[in-house]
Amino acid sequence: MTDLLEPGQRDAWLAEIAAAGDAPTLKDVESRLLGKTGAISELLKSVPKLPPEDRPAAGKAAHALKQELGAALDARREALDAAALEAELAGGDFDPSEPALRDGPGSGPTRSVRVPLGLRRGTLHPISIVRNELVDLFKSLGFAWLDGPEIENEHHNFEALNIPGDHPARDSQDTFWLDDGNLLRTHTSPVQIRAMQRFEPPMKVIVPGRCFRAESVDASHEHTFYQMEGLVVGEGVSTANLIHTMKTCLREILRRDIEVRLRPGFFPFVEPGFELDVNCPFCSGKGCSVCKHTGWIEILPCGMVHPNVLKAGGIDSERYTGFAFGMGLQRVVMLRYGIDDIRLFMGGDLAFLAQFDEVSE
Ligand code: DAH
Repeated sequence: MTDLLEPGQRDAWLAEIAAAGDAPTLKDVESRLLGKTGAISELLKSVPKLPPEDRPAAGKAAHALKQELGAALDARREALDAAALEAELAGGDFDPSEPALRDGPGSGPTRSVRVPLGLRRGTLHPISIVRNELVDLFKSLGFAWLDGPEIENEHHNFEALNIPGDHPARDSQDTFWLDDGNLLRTHTSPVQIRAMQRFEPPMKVIVPGRCFRAESVDASHEHTFYQMEGLVVGEGVSTANLIHTMKTCLREILRRDIEVRLRPGFFPFVEPGFELDVNCPFCSGKGCSVCKHTGWIEILPCGMVHPNVLKAGGIDSERYTGFAFGMGLQRVVMLRYGIDDIRLFMGGDLAFLAQFDEVSE
């Protein structure tokens, strides 16, 4: 190596990097050192001309020097970025009300600084994106958006929904109980009762929200998950209304023309109860491994509101009927974007989560 380099050359290069006072100068130093025809390339090219016994050590040393210079360039670039940002923040022209920048192409106003992570504008979580879109869709159909407590009482979470204490359906919802006898709601369905207690028919409501179950986490289960409940009560409300509403919304949210089908499904608060399936997007209904060769994918449970539930909500079950559905928001997001593991949503991997936000400046 000493044979290849003038004495003091390495130090001179490092000093040159450290002395670069702005980004263009640094770029220039970089291309002179590490560029295709730069000093290091020349150095590497001269290795084969050395006596064979000297080549391995010289090659190794040249590569180490390349890495050392690369690291020094990166460090200098970061220092310059930070200094430019400092100067910008300290200068009088920093306007905190200006929208934050997006990183990458199309980043809005031209700036020479890369946007540091802390100043980048955040992106919406895919669950929020889909939730917002669904809320807008349902609002356009005349639904009201309701909220409900995440800490519920046993009555609203179970009994009023036709799930008495000894009912086996309770076992399917592994519940987090609190010391005071309340619980973390296991589904958004209790808000059906709250809505009926509060409003007179006709009513159409949706309730997006967080639910909790003592589930062990795997590719399709989370202890904390998101549902969107829907409830429609009025005179003459029928299964045909249910199918039409779900088809309209699912077509929009999944962004394709869809077919739906109903299979019988048991939930104590609906009668009849259904599982609603959509035709498989991956094979267009022909049958594939995702849809287990059935051509259909289960997307949400739903049904006609059980008369006991109407009664618990203070509604005349002789006069009114209703339908309800419980959408698993993660499931809809997974189907829309083709994501196969629910844990990715909670992983905190910003690069994964940021790719779904389609808002552009
Ligand atoms: N609450 C049910 C659950 O979490 C889902 C559900 C099923 C909601 C049928 C409904 C419904 O509104 O009609 O398992």
